[in-house]
Amino acid sequence: MRKLLKWTGIILGGLLLVVLLSSWILSRKFLKESEKTYQVDLAPVAIPTDSASLERGLVLSVSCRTCHDADLAGKVFFDDPTIGVLPSSNLTRAKGSETEGYAAGDYVRALRHGLNKAGHPLMVMPSESYTHLSDQDLGSLVAFLMTLKPVERTFPKRKFTYMAQVMAGAGLFGDLYPYHVIDHDKARNITAPPIGPTEEYGAYIFSIGGCKTCHGEHLGGGPSPDPASPVVPNVSVSGNPGKWTAAQFVQVFRTGTTPEGKQLDGKFMPFPGIGALQDAEIEALYHYIRTLPPAPQPK
Ligand code: HEC
Ligand code: HEC
Repeated sequence: MRKLLKWTGIILGGLLLVVLLSSWILSRKFLKESEKTYQVDLAPVAIPTDSASLERGLVLSVSCRTCHDADLAGKVFFDDPTIGVLPSSNLTRAKGSETEGYAAGDYVRALRHGLNKAGHPLMVMPSESYTHLSDQDLGSLVAFLMTLKPVERTFPKRKFTYMAQVMAGAGLFGDLYPYHVIDHDKARNITAPPIGPTEEYGAYIFSIGGCKTCHGEHLGGGPSPDPASPVVPNVSVSGNPGKWTAAQFVQVFRTGTTPEGKQLDGKFMPFPGIGALQDAEIEALYHYIRTLPPAPQPK
């Protein structure tokens, strides 16, 4: 009996050690990644100064405000006691902020390649979508950001619970560093089709809007890697959008309310960024989605 207890103790102790050790390895793997430094070959982007381009940059910056706050000076946009605290960065180049001393090229590195000025990979910042911005749109956006009045703000630093570090290291939240999924060779000299309610232009808005990141490769939806998010719906033609007219589709993005009367949560479904675009641009997205095969309903 004693012998049995002893052996059970040794086996359980051994198992515990293995679990502790592997969880520690996973958490280190996750934390170490943001300390790595990557170099990319930055292609220059022309930064315009005319008022039409600055106005376009302002419109494109609406999509940044969900995470970087209404004035773009940054905020904690994720705070969950079981997971941790995730702040965005201050984009106003204020003293002591992440973007202090940022030049145009530093914004390009962040948006196209998912790296901060020092070359560390940015976490959760959706560069995998913004990497598709045309030179013209990206230039306009950066031009607008560089006109922002510096706003000094302090907010808590990034912090993850041990459990979240282990889960992230095991890949349970998906790849949190867009740098890894970006095709860096393609992130240069990008042109967009002319603005109009066309499938081609819709494909452009679809790529910069990151629809696939959340709605899935075939837009069929399913559970979100963000544990706080509602289930992501099917937005292919086999889902609700297949029943909407182009005008109704545009209204969904403008108002966040669907024809079925559902109020979308702008924190999880970033409709305001697309809703700030011109009617023709949102309509283009509608036409593009109609060219894609219907997704099977999520189980
Ligand atoms: C889903 C939330 C989210 C959205 C939307 C978003 N960002 Fe970010 N962004 C972040 C987070 C989080 C960080 C900080 C990441 C880090 O430090 O690892 C960040 C960092 C950045 C940085 C790097 C600053 C630094 O720390 O050096 C820039 C530049 C930036 N964002 C610009 C933008 C712009 C411009 C937009 C809109 C076109 C935008 N972001 C939209 C979450 C977001
Ligand atoms: C950050 C994740 C995310 C991104 C990016 C995203 N969505 Fe969504 N979307 C959601 C979530 C979550 C919901 C459900 C929101 C709710 O229930 O409040 C949703 C809801 C919708 C709905 C409403 C569907 C219905 O049946 O009510 C449509 C339409 C939609 N998304 C289209 C798009 C398109 C088109 C894009 C790309 C331009 C896009 N979404 C990008 C997460 C996302």
